[in-house]
Amino acid sequence: MKKLTNILLFLLISSGIFAQETDWFYATMHAESAQMLKNNHPEGIQILETEENESAVYVAEEVAHELHQNIVVHGPGFIFRTDKTAAIDALHRVLPKNENILEFTIDQDVLVNQCLNLVNASNIEETILDLQAYGTRHHTKLQAEQAVLAMKQKWENLVAATGRTDISFRIVEHVNTPMPSLVMTIAGAEIPDEFVIVGGHLDSITPDINDAPGADDNASGIGTITEIIRVLLDVNYKPKRTVEFMAYAAEEIGLVGSREIAQEYAGQGKNVVAYVQFDMTNYNGSSNDIYIIEDEYTSNELNLYLIELLEHYNASGTHALTYGSSQCNYACSDHASWKENGYLASFPFESAFGQHNPNIHTPNDEFSVSGSATHAAKFTKLGLQFVIETAKSTMMSTQDFSNTNLNLVVKDKNLIYNIDHLNSKIQSLNILDSGARKIISKSNLEISGTISLQNLPHGFYIAVFKATNGKTFTKKFLVK
Ligand code: BES
Ligand code: ZN
Repeated sequence: MKKLTNILLFLLISSGIFAQETDWFYATMHAESAQMLKNNHPEGIQILETEENESAVYVAEEVAHELHQNIVVHGPGFIFRTDKTAAIDALHRVLPKNENILEFTIDQDVLVNQCLNLVNASNIEETILDLQAYGTRHHTKLQAEQAVLAMKQKWENLVAATGRTDISFRIVEHVNTPMPSLVMTIAGAEIPDEFVIVGGHLDSITPDINDAPGADDNASGIGTITEIIRVLLDVNYKPKRTVEFMAYAAEEIGLVGSREIAQEYAGQGKNVVAYVQFDMTNYNGSSNDIYIIEDEYTSNELNLYLIELLEHYNASGTHALTYGSSQCNYACSDHASWKENGYLASFPFESAFGQHNPNIHTPNDEFSVSGSATHAAKFTKLGLQFVIETAKSTMMSTQDFSNTNLNLVVKDKNLIYNIDHLNSKIQSLNILDSGARKIISKSNLEISGTISLQNLPHGFYIAVFKATNGKTFTKKFLVK
């Protein structure tokens, strides 16, 4: 019967006769995507307005889903909007400019390294297997809700063992999906009104919504996050800022759960210092381990900080891992909800875009494709580094006390540097841009000196100094 309906539906769509009775909704999407849908299904989409390269549309569900069910040419998706006004307003929204003066610093080496040593890939494997066992986590299915409640129980059990009272849980009900989201909060001990948030989506999708194991997309991200939580609790971690972990509903139909939450936070004027998304972490599809998504839906400043963390903690030794950068170039996951609401957001991804797990959104997105969770464990490490370094209190410092050893000044397009109290030589200096590209490389430098930046365009960069004693010093600077 279902098959027959699908065939009828297909005939309806392909013959261009589009019954208004099917589910239609408002959305925004790339103008190109809107035009493509309009060409293929003139009856299935209305383009309401186009601004630069973004269109507000009214679209039939089946037509919109073509955008991300076509896994061969996986292309830009759409963002669900509650009504016509919301869709059109989204085109005209002036992003609240984040005048963030926070100086992200790195100085929690002892605690971070203690945590990195505790990361265990088999725990991530367990979470992925638990989640895929639901068969489907499509946002309309009961299993999706059950999986969220079971995840709450799992996280609560981890907390119960500690007897802590500074940790709370919320099940967030949504307007635009029957599936709820899950939020865990560790109250900040000193600045509780500043938030550091890590999230990922718990729902899954395939053309046959009853068979959607979603192991990589995105049980892997939830497994990554669950292991971050387990390790932090294991060391009795108490942040100065409030730390939150979120498992969202209904990402797969247009970032629905995360948008409702991010909008609520923005509406309440909540100060979210930084947001990191984990969505697809366990498929090792490219030559590097972690790819920082660097496009207009992520924040340069935070991307650079993640690169600094990777340089500082993962350049060599037991926790060594490699990284690169890539782009989605559309609102491909929940980080976009936070960015859109004016917050700093980043998205470290499993591979270069296009080399990611080809099984996503199919019944074959199973754990067996990867066979272990070692790739995802690398993201747990980055997540731990991010949470610990960002939720400490000394971050809001000026350059003077942010990094005790490395001093940087940019003057007349020259970088003047000095490393105090360094009793070894500087082996190398790399200057990276926000796409992790090496712009300038030098070796064998003195502990103070001047580097010409004449050819660098305006923007933020990071300088990575490696000393012969194995220490790494990083700092961000602005070229005007
Ligand atoms: N995990 C994917 C996002 C993704 C896929 C990023 C491939 C990079 C490469 C996410 O769950 C997803 O499917 N997103 C949709 C868009 C969303 C707004 C419906 C997509 O990419 O089509
Ligand atoms: Zn997906």
